[in-house]
Amino acid sequence: MNGTQIFSPNRILAAAILSLHLIPAAASAQAEPRERDIRIPRVPADELPRVKKLVNPIPPTASALREAKELFSRSCAACHGAEGKGDGPVAVDNRIDPKPRNFTNPEFQRLRTDGELYWVLTHGSHDTEMMRMDFFFTEEELWKLILYVRSLGGADP
Ligand code: HEC
Repeated sequence: MNGTQIFSPNRILAAAILSLHLIPAAASAQAEPRERDIRIPRVPADELPRVKKLVNPIPPTASALREAKELFSRSCAACHGAEGKGDGPVAVDNRIDPKPRNFTNPEFQRLRTDGELYWVLTHGSHDTEMMRMDFFFTEEELWKLILYVRSLGGADP
């Protein structure tokens, strides 16, 4: 090992995000991309009761949020937007459909438990560009990212 990580998780993630640029922008006649209905859970029904109860083990300290903000701007903002409105440049340029979730929507924040967000981060959201992220981040980082997603929705950090 010489310390050079050719297949480092961040590089793979960056490559995955950039590969979206290869998809030609859809014809302008196409309907505007929209978010999927928030009221439909992303977690399969048989797993939902268990998943809903998962509790974020990381306390929302200033340093956890600072770290998460850094991770978010590097790996999530391209699609979700710097402020989490679902309007990141990669999503807009590629007309990603369904649109990335808008985290500033209070209804989204109210309807989803932390456990459900964790499930999406570890499984992806089926049939969307939201891929599983557990290849790229530790469990702890994923929970920190969830703290950050909550803070974008105005939750008390
Ligand atoms: C390639 C674009 C893309 C990237 C990069 C991306 N997302 Fe997403 N994300 C999406 C899309 C599209 C959806 C909407 C999925 C849906 O409607 O089911 C989504 C949905 C979500 C949801 C909500 C799912 C729900 O329950 O409605 C969470 C939480 C999320 N993303 C977190 C993240 C985090 C954290 C990162 C960075 C580690 C990230 N995303 C990176 C495209 C992306």
